[in-house]
Amino acid sequence: MSRLDRTIARLQAQKYSIEAAAAALEKTPGVIFELGLGSGRTFDHLRTIFPDRQILVFEQAVDTAPSYTPTAEQLILGEITTTLQQAVEQYTDSVALIHADIGGPDHLANAQLARALSQHYPRLLVHGGWLIANRAEAVFAGSSPITLPNEVAADHCYLFRRT
Ligand SMILES: C[S@@+](CC[C@H](N)C(=O)[O-])C[C@H]1O[C@@H](n2cnc3c(N)ncnc32)[C@H](O)[C@@H]1O
Repeated sequence: MSRLDRTIARLQAQKYSIEAAAAALEKTPGVIFELGLGSGRTFDHLRTIFPDRQILVFEQAVDTAPSYTPTAEQLILGEITTTLQQAVEQYTDSVALIHADIGGPDHLANAQLARALSQHYPRLLVHGGWLIANRAEAVFAGSSPITLPNEVAADHCYLFRRT
């Protein structure tokens, strides 16, 4: 598989997983957490697919075009191991969906970060709430895996539900 193929597969996995979450969570109230703004691709898809939900975006350094930049109320700027921990008190049992596409080019560091963040998911997510993650290491205590949508190739997105 070429790098182009992998990139297309990853973007499709994100798109179809987010859309599957929207259908599954239609009657589940809660905030949406976007972990990692990047160029704002998935943030823009989330706000399109979930127009009536509060979306909070966690990012250490914003570098997006203005039209894909979250508002000041939506953005939680800083090192995510600190900002997500701080968010736990305010958003306990309040989050319907966490979309975690966080990290950089260092795969080992990304795995460590995914594990570190996953400790907060059981407190943040409502029962039945979803995690869509870019790393398998994001699995958290009290979760069950969700079958991938048909359009999603294995190993590009990892889906879990808080039981
Ligand atoms: C792959 S990009 C996200 C791409 C985004 N989902 C999109 O569709 O455009 C990962 C993002 O995680 C952010 N990031 C990486 N490590 C971080 C950390 N420790 N704290 C906060 N943000 C971090 C990077 O700055 C980067 O913007």
